[in-house]
Amino acid sequence: MKTLVLTAHPNLGKSRVNRAWFEALSDAETVTTRDLTVIGGETFQFDVQAEHELLLAHDRIVFQFPFYWYSAPPVLKAWMDQVLTYGFAYGPGGDKLAGREFLLLVSTGGPADSYHAGGYNNFSMAEFLKPYQQTALLAGMTYLRPYVAHGMAVATEAQIEASIPDMLAHLTDPELDPKVKQARLLKELENDPAKAAAVS
Ligand SMILES: Cc1cc2nc3c(=O)[nH]c(=O)nc-3n(C[C@H](O)[C@H](O)[C@H](O)COP(=O)(O)O)c2cc1C
Repeated sequence: MKTLVLTAHPNLGKSRVNRAWFEALSDAETVTTRDLTVIGGETFQFDVQAEHELLLAHDRIVFQFPFYWYSAPPVLKAWMDQVLTYGFAYGPGGDKLAGREFLLLVSTGGPADSYHAGGYNNFSMAEFLKPYQQTALLAGMTYLRPYVAHGMAVATEAQIEASIPDMLAHLTDPELDPKVKQARLLKELENDPAKAAAVS
């Protein structure tokens, strides 16, 4: 499985969390990392043909970003507006991304308990991230469970370091697609009549 990570941080050099993740991902096998801020330059201009070719060469597409005002930094929106074109990602013939997997990798400043009804951010990350989910679904991709690390504005170096293996395990987990996991669980039940009897 080949994974493409598109990183949208306004200044990865000044980042703590996303830079650590970006560096770890850059060292990982079968992962391609791209710093969109560097690639898009000051005017956020992308070579659409080159971006399409990269997307087509990968199976799992990841958007990585720090949560900014309940969304992503603007370079990601510029990339989406330019690259997810009619006839490529949607509309007639726009099925080029169909069947690929899509995953969000997000750091937030706010703590986990703030992202709940009644918490100070009131809504869950699943609710805030719906525009990305629907973008993936419209393009025919499988939306995988996002990886979100909370409370990262005040994270210690040790906490950031500790998040890396967890994040890498999530991003490279072949069973994030629920269909893949279900198929394995079904097979296990088929091979274990006692267990199958217990759950039926
Ligand atoms: C302009 C701006 C907007 C932010 N908006 C949010 C937000 O809406 N929710 C949140 O939890 N954190 C917010 N934060 C905090 C960042 O998400 C946090 O500092 C970041 O995830 C840390 O990652 P980094 O070390 O890679 O920069 C914001 C930070 C900035 C600078």
